[in-house]
Amino acid sequence: MDPLLGIKVLAFDAYGTLFDVHSVVQLAEKMFPGKGLLLSQLWRTKQIEYMFIRSLMGKYIPHDQNTELALKYAMQFLGLSGGDQERKELMKAYEVLSPFGDVKHALEKLGHVKKSILSVGTPALIKSLVNHADLAHFFDELFSVDEVKIYKPHPLTYQLVMDKFGVEKDQIAFITSNYFDVVGAKAFGFKVIWVNRNHIVPDELTLKPDIELNSIDQLPIIIQ
Ligand code: LAC
Repeated sequence: MDPLLGIKVLAFDAYGTLFDVHSVVQLAEKMFPGKGLLLSQLWRTKQIEYMFIRSLMGKYIPHDQNTELALKYAMQFLGLSGGDQERKELMKAYEVLSPFGDVKHALEKLGHVKKSILSVGTPALIKSLVNHADLAHFFDELFSVDEVKIYKPHPLTYQLVMDKFGVEKDQIAFITSNYFDVVGAKAFGFKVIWVNRNHIVPDELTLKPDIELNSIDQLPIIIQ
């Protein structure tokens, strides 16, 4: 695999890339036997859909609120009524999602470049995730879209990284597992690395990542 040359800054997506949004499945399954995985999948799908709808309407609300409303919908859709207590517990679990197993090892080997997170999460959520996973010391900056009050893939969100580090767009490598984020970052002008752990089919949105990996473990080979 050819390395990406001239990279000075790495910007990581959080949910689905560094942290496993489906690490709540076990808890959800305990609460609602036979429906844990489905609930987790529908929750994530609706959460992303709501982000896009709200951004298009110009009606941003912070990610924790958006996420709770998506969970409320998913529970109602699956007939898991009542559930206020369960919803609160799942929201608590969302604050401490597990990192993927390949993350820490890769971050340890990337000491020579600046590292940041750019996430749709609120500043408090991002901090909670990195602190709980003991990853905070790896990052120079944590960027939240809350600063610009619109969700990815709006260009203003990627601009946050540019403004802070004062480097050229193509000196920033953006690392994400979410394909809407791949195309958003690519359209903005970043170099983009798609972490495709589950070998999914890329969306037909014309733009393509510069590099596709199936594990973040391979990142230190690319960024030298
Ligand atoms: C994030 C979403 C896109 O962390 O996964 O920004």
